[in-house]
Amino acid sequence: MCARRHSIITSFVATILKTGSDGVTADTVEAAARALRAGEAIALPTETVYGLAANAFDSHAIERIFNIKGRPAHNPVIVHVASLAMARACARSWPREADLLAQAFWPGPLTLVVPRGSRIPDAVAAGGETVGLRWPRHPIFQEIIEACGFPLAAPSANRSGQVSPTTAEHVQRSLGERINWIVDGGPAEIGIESTVLDLSVTPPRLLRPGMIDAASLKSVIGPLDSTAPPEGVLRSPGLLLKHYSPRARLLVWSRTSLASLANELEQSQMDACQVHFLCLNPSKPPFPFGRVTVMPHEPAAYAKALYAEWHRSDELGAQLIVMESVPDRPEWAGVQDRLRRAAA
Ligand code: TXA
Ligand code: MG
Repeated sequence: MCARRHSIITSFVATILKTGSDGVTADTVEAAARALRAGEAIALPTETVYGLAANAFDSHAIERIFNIKGRPAHNPVIVHVASLAMARACARSWPREADLLAQAFWPGPLTLVVPRGSRIPDAVAAGGETVGLRWPRHPIFQEIIEACGFPLAAPSANRSGQVSPTTAEHVQRSLGERINWIVDGGPAEIGIESTVLDLSVTPPRLLRPGMIDAASLKSVIGPLDSTAPPEGVLRSPGLLLKHYSPRARLLVWSRTSLASLANELEQSQMDACQVHFLCLNPSKPPFPFGRVTVMPHEPAAYAKALYAEWHRSDELGAQLIVMESVPDRPEWAGVQDRLRRAAA
């Protein structure tokens, strides 16, 4: 007799842990904390983007983060805390500016780079003497840190070089084959990564713009260093020009010169279906784009939508994404930075 051979069905997807009602959330927090205590790296929601989290005090767990993401070892990861006391326990010294900024913006989308405390392994800091600390405001992330009792190192939960995830589904597509758990905390409220401010130098230096802008920081601690970083010194690999980019090529175009771009596209051999247009003004598009999306006019709403639109274009197989340029104003600095890097 010949038994029918069972095919081995291997699941290459992570389990998505739901949140919502109190009971479901409590079970999810417990399951997540259990995995983190066991040294696993799992995906968690934050208010900026989803993070790939692991015990910040455990160098093996940190190594897992780097392997899963394919992240170069020279790029340090941010450590997430759930109290000021926990932040201070990760720092060798605590500048006065850190207190002022924490009071003004924590919990929230601001990362402070301070001298690294002895419990933070080399791998977190990429061998450097500083550590980036952030107290995120997503309630689920906070509950999970509290349940663990240790801080969580977490870069964005995407393969290195890809666009950061703003939903559990984005994480599933990028890392689902490589991790066991994704906690679904809904779409990220802010949508682009935190502002990163280096407090280990005087005056402090803005390393990565975000939705907390330079003017807001200055109003709390005074002047920032706005000179270009010294040649050859990689202060923050997130400052590398090419970063945060979708698979499709990306062009930023101003409305006034859009007609000439449309001409160029018409001359090119490009399949119009594979050219997407993300604009600010709803008017008749100058080219038969495969997809036209009118983006929100307000910077916070725009930032919240941006990565989801890029993920969508990638899913639909876009070859080229044409972005209408955004206003040249301080409250758009975080968005402008992401457009510039993605188009580099
Ligand atoms: O909003 C965010 O910051 C998200 C969520 C998950 O918290 N995280 C995030 O992590 O964007 P990641 O690893 O994708 O980006 C962290 C950035 C990188 O550009 C890294 O180089 C920089 O912060 N960074 C981290 N620690 C640093 C340090 N000690 N000195 C200088 N730059 C640092
Ligand atoms: Mg990232």
